[in-house]
Amino acid sequence: MAALGMGRTTDAVHGNVRVPGDKSISHRALMFSAFASGTSRVRGILQSDDVKATAGVLRALGWKLPEVSAEMTIDGAGFTSRLRSPVSPLQCQNSGTTTRLMAGVAAAQPFASTFVGDASLSRRPMRRVAAPLEAMGARVEFLEGHDGLPMTVHGGALHGIAWELPVASAQLKSAILLAGLCGGVAVRVREPAPTRDHTERMLSALGVSVTTRDGWIELQPAERLSPLDLDVPGDPSSSAFFLARALLAGEGSLRLENVLRSPFRDGFLRAVQRMGGAVDEVRVSAPGGEPRDDLIAHGGARLRGISIERDEVTAMIDEVPMLAVLAVRAEGTTEVRGAEELRVKESDRIAAVVSNLRAIGVEAHELPDGLVVHGTDAPLAGHVKTHADHRIAMAFGILGATRDCAITVDDPDCVAVSYPHFWEDLARVAS
Ligand code: S3P
Repeated sequence: MAALGMGRTTDAVHGNVRVPGDKSISHRALMFSAFASGTSRVRGILQSDDVKATAGVLRALGWKLPEVSAEMTIDGAGFTSRLRSPVSPLQCQNSGTTTRLMAGVAAAQPFASTFVGDASLSRRPMRRVAAPLEAMGARVEFLEGHDGLPMTVHGGALHGIAWELPVASAQLKSAILLAGLCGGVAVRVREPAPTRDHTERMLSALGVSVTTRDGWIELQPAERLSPLDLDVPGDPSSSAFFLARALLAGEGSLRLENVLRSPFRDGFLRAVQRMGGAVDEVRVSAPGGEPRDDLIAHGGARLRGISIERDEVTAMIDEVPMLAVLAVRAEGTTEVRGAEELRVKESDRIAAVVSNLRAIGVEAHELPDGLVVHGTDAPLAGHVKTHADHRIAMAFGILGATRDCAITVDDPDCVAVSYPHFWEDLARVAS
């Protein structure tokens, strides 16, 4: 149990934070380096439990990968050869991205792969990824009446599909694209709202034909992937916590270095600017890959509550817990709608955020597809249950580090999933 911020008398922030490498890009960088023909070089990969889970699954399937480290040199073995039937279940730990993307890869292999994970991952819906893979010719087994892990993918020869996704999910889109790539068949996929496009961009940069026309994303079979030479940008989802930390401070500024800028990932930044938060954006040079910015966030602003609608949610899906907790110190009411997908993340994030806000003395309530938070200036105190969810731990950790908050968090170590040095960075930025 960690006690945060108790007894803080001043509340100024200062300094720079280099948030860890982007989680979505790190997963894909490992996969595509393994699938490439030739030697890839990847710098700044996220060294977290989720990314290590992807490395473990790739190794269990026969790809040779070095330890996940700051500078990796990876000899790819191609995506069609030398794979082996895994001797034991593929352990995905807490990682939905590992499970769903690698399910697409497994669907194209001539053997069965069983995916398992921790208690949280085992509760998350997987039939949504099984459906398109079965439509392509794989067979996917679950325990009777269950929708979750364990899940066994019986792979084999696949055929192409055109699939309209019922939910906006980059993981599902990517699973279909990877099944097409590894199965050597053309696939088309359409999403109800645009989601992060890292799979499309990265595959396209490695020589695969991936195009978008009339809302349909189409991948054509490819013979090989070129090796990667990539500097992974900072994760905007991790930077959101420190943007909030600065905006909640009485004075001072924080500079967040080298943060990925993508229109599919910047919803939190746009939302806090609408709330009245002062954030400067300074473009930094990127050696290839997606644009990146230094973000300089300033304390001392008066924040006001806002409404977030469905069309804004996909670009900030992982940041809604932090937005809702930040809204505690905004004047008036903040409402988030169209975010029902939050109920099937690492925890039911709508229920987890609202129950924890109430536990520390904030007026908040759930909506079926979102939540409502009433801002307050009152001192706050109480105990937060993370439900082993890294983003719940970090969102409340940020509030707990500010003045007039005495908050304890039950499982601070769960941040290892996406931001292993979070607590150290948090302690460093305030005086
Ligand atoms: C991710 C996609 C999103 C996001 C997750 C990472 C990815 O999930 O919440 O943290 O890397 O593709 P969904 O695909 O379920 O929306």
